Amino acid sequence: LTPQDLAGETVLVTAGPTREEIDPVRYITNRSSGKMGYAIARAARLRGARVTLVSGPTCLPVPRGVELVRVGSAVEMREAVLPRADGAGIIFKAAAVADYRPTVRASQKLKKGKDDLSRIELERNPDILAELGRLPGGRVLVGFAAETDELEANATAKLSAKNLDLIVANDVTREDVGFDVDTNEVRLFFADGRRLDLAKMSKFELAGELLDQALALKKQKTGTA
Ligand code: C5P
Repeated sequence: LTPQDLAGETVLVTAGPTREEIDPVRYITNRSSGKMGYAIARAARLRGARVTLVSGPTCLPVPRGVELVRVGSAVEMREAVLPRADGAGIIFKAAAVADYRPTVRASQKLKKGKDDLSRIELERNPDILAELGRLPGGRVLVGFAAETDELEANATAKLSAKNLDLIVANDVTREDVGFDVDTNEVRLFFADGRRLDLAKMSKFELAGELLDQALALKKQKTGTA
């Protein structure tokens, strides 16, 4: 039987890519299957947490007992996440949010001959995680960093810039871990300077490790350790 050590805890998870529409048939997106976030949501639910999963478009089955909020764009994800942050004790921001969106979305399909498709004007999306990091309160905030180079420097810079408790960093140049596949191998960087290299394991097992770490951080923050 799974220990119910997350009973009474509310966990908010984001997963999957966002989709930034150019016109009704085209969009900009980021590479993400959603598997890591869905694994965290499922593992948290099995350990007794109340779980809300805010998900961009994925093909994954919804974990049993998890409240699913489907979103398309980063702006929609922000609108789903921010009002739910207050009630959450632990937040995992595993979504691959697009950094930019088209300034205008054409209501009709753009035509090759007629419209200039060679340039799309973009504007910045909100950084949801950075906004969460500025909220007051004792919740635990976990971010993810998918990097191709300078893993440690990039991850630790995000950890402090976004005021996170923990960042989960993975090297996405490897084909056996990370994107699309069911396994992952990550390095953890904590706000207090600790770091932990985890072995390659399934995303579900990794979800368990990450929940252990987040729960320990939560106990530290609320003084119940
Ligand atoms: O894009 P970046 O590498 O900075 O993303 C790192 C973390 O920030 C991820 O956890 C991602 O979910 C989050 N993020 C976000 N809103 C954005 C961009 C990234 O919440 N607009």
